[in-house]
Amino acid sequence: MITVPIASQLRCITCGATPVSAAQDFRCANCGDLLEFVFPGRDFDPATLKSVWQTRKTSSHQLDQSGVWRFRELLPHIPEEHAITLREGNTPLYELPRCARIVGLDVLQAKHQGMNPTASFKDTGMTIAASSAHQQAFRWVACASTGNTSASMAAYAARGNMRSLVLIPEGKISWGKLSQSLDYGALTCQLRTDFDGCVRILNELVRKKPVYLLNSVNPYRIEGQKTAAIELLEQLNWEPPDHIIVPGGNLGNSSAIGKALLEMRDLKLISRLPRLSIIQAAGANPFYRSVKEFGGSKLEPMTADTQATAIRIGNPASWKKALRVLRATGGEVEQVTELEIAEAKAEIGADGIGCEPASAVTLAGLKKLCKRGFVKRGETVVLILTGHLLKDPDFTIKFHRGDLFTGTPDDPKTAQTSLLHRAPGVLDADLGEVIAALDAAERNS
Ligand code: F0G
Repeated sequence: MITVPIASQLRCITCGATPVSAAQDFRCANCGDLLEFVFPGRDFDPATLKSVWQTRKTSSHQLDQSGVWRFRELLPHIPEEHAITLREGNTPLYELPRCARIVGLDVLQAKHQGMNPTASFKDTGMTIAASSAHQQAFRWVACASTGNTSASMAAYAARGNMRSLVLIPEGKISWGKLSQSLDYGALTCQLRTDFDGCVRILNELVRKKPVYLLNSVNPYRIEGQKTAAIELLEQLNWEPPDHIIVPGGNLGNSSAIGKALLEMRDLKLISRLPRLSIIQAAGANPFYRSVKEFGGSKLEPMTADTQATAIRIGNPASWKKALRVLRATGGEVEQVTELEIAEAKAEIGADGIGCEPASAVTLAGLKKLCKRGFVKRGETVVLILTGHLLKDPDFTIKFHRGDLFTGTPDDPKTAQTSLLHRAPGVLDADLGEVIAALDAAERNS
């Protein structure tokens, strides 16, 4: 067994400074850029690591039952008495046969991070970062959020007996996500601004008050989120897929998955790198534009707008980290329209899987990557689905009723998706009417 804690070190991604501890805003004191964890001198026998992780799957120990802490050799050390876990991770890898046919691939798989305890991928990072807050004896933790980070943070804070402060853009997050943070006991503030405005206020707050910042600029979040990629590779028997496709919002998740891929390659857990591609909504595409228009030399913040509210982000904090992994893995960027997102979401649903709108950009983006030959028939592709279908039922119901785009510029194009609409019918409580509906559905199938 591997029992010795591995030494980790914080390092600035731009100037390379290695502070012993991070400031409250997790920015480098020298240059103001983001920090990341590095593990100098880390060396493992890959076969031993794989077998230790496999053995833990049958253990009843709480850390082993977590699909995040199970991989603790690759994470910064946090003593077990501070670990706050809801047995996150352990998410399924599904085949999407109908979606595969639609995009023209032999096989398409999706790792469903919406099957985490609070129904989004955020739990994998939150378990580590909330535990770090606990270790440092913080009473308050806080985040700005489009809804999923806040739901996750509120749950982990409650489990760790900490108070949580949520800043969310008023009217721009789904009720499902808002209701989670209320039930988990967060102090929930809906600010009259967008996500980026919430981030600005929070950054000022953490400099004035002893609250622990749990946005993905916190490098512990990134470390926990790495495990989604490690678990994926384990599920694939350490045979890397050709492509992994993720949605891009604040760009913490793509950075984390990319970091995991590079670390696994360096540790010889895998022999080659999958290409990691990042998809944004066209109305919230600052990273796409950074790569396509400015060759990644700068990122111009924008006012973001998309009905995929989880990724309604105009000034992504982790864009430099994401750019680095995009380049290191040879991935691509794409942008997709509101109609393309809605259509892809219904298609993933029709495979019996489902996801929230932000996750569906992966399939919509894959269609474009296939069309332009970046992804080829016969290649293996894994989509990362980031949130559960039930996170945003409003979007889904409006789509199936055909009024998702009412009052928007896309309204005239709604007919394009009508074949996918499955509006609920209202009938009299009459057997004949139900049989007629059944027969009509059979004729149309
Ligand atoms: N998908 C979902 C469902 C999300 O909630 C988010 C981000 C993303 C994708 C994008 O991930 O930001 O790491 O690039 N949600 C954050 C939140 C911002 O506050 O819940 P990212």
